[in-house]
Amino acid sequence: MRRPIIAGNWKMNETIDQSLDLVTKLKSEVAEVNDVDIVVCPPFTSLFAVGKAIRGANIFLGAQDIYWEEKGAYTGEVSPGMLTNVGCQYVIIGHSERRHLFGEANQSVNRKVKAALKFDLTPIMCVGERLEERERGVTEGVVREHITRGLEGLSREEVLKMVIAYEPVWAIGTGKTATPDQAQEVHSFIRGLLRELYDEVIASKVRIQYGGSVKPENIFDLMREKDIDGALVGGASLDAKSFAQIVKYER
Ligand code: PGA
Repeated sequence: MRRPIIAGNWKMNETIDQSLDLVTKLKSEVAEVNDVDIVVCPPFTSLFAVGKAIRGANIFLGAQDIYWEEKGAYTGEVSPGMLTNVGCQYVIIGHSERRHLFGEANQSVNRKVKAALKFDLTPIMCVGERLEERERGVTEGVVREHITRGLEGLSREEVLKMVIAYEPVWAIGTGKTATPDQAQEVHSFIRGLLRELYDEVIASKVRIQYGGSVKPENIFDLMREKDIDGALVGGASLDAKSFAQIVKYER
């Protein structure tokens, strides 16, 4: 059985005060939950404060990006050690906004994944096709490329520690969720790829989240699919009640 994992990607939203307000409300909303891994990924500037606020609670801290070098002249970047130092246990890598707005390529996704693992941070590696790619019928090709290049050179043990997030770009922030069938189809393809690249144990253990307009209204049907193990939530994670409802999808 794979333990569900629901992560909130706050993106470039919330000052420190707003972050504290949001996470304090969330903490009380989800206090009783003990069968789901809950992760919040605030902007870098709020990590320290939020990390302190959730100490001892059932919520993990994640960052939205990372750089692979340990330190040095890399203006604007944040190292793996800096993230663990503020209490991060997770880090989103290769989000479609990084790939498409900031030109992040598979090779840098791969280097970031390796750096995160080296520092015991769990990478949430994002993959997914654009609308135009889906319409051209190349979804599987795009996802295959993201996965094989993103995981290049990783051992079985390393891959076992990862989370993969399938996020069709056309569903992100658009209100247009993939149907549970559409999502399941790609999730099962990803699991097949893991079997092909590694083995059955890896394929059956790695958690695969769905992301793209996840809301309290659609989470239940998504989570019913056999290869969907959780969600990476953008917009709806900025509201404590909505995010808590997503976390508590079964209740
Ligand atoms: P969304 O974003 O839930 O606002 O569509 C998801 C994501 O980008 O991770």
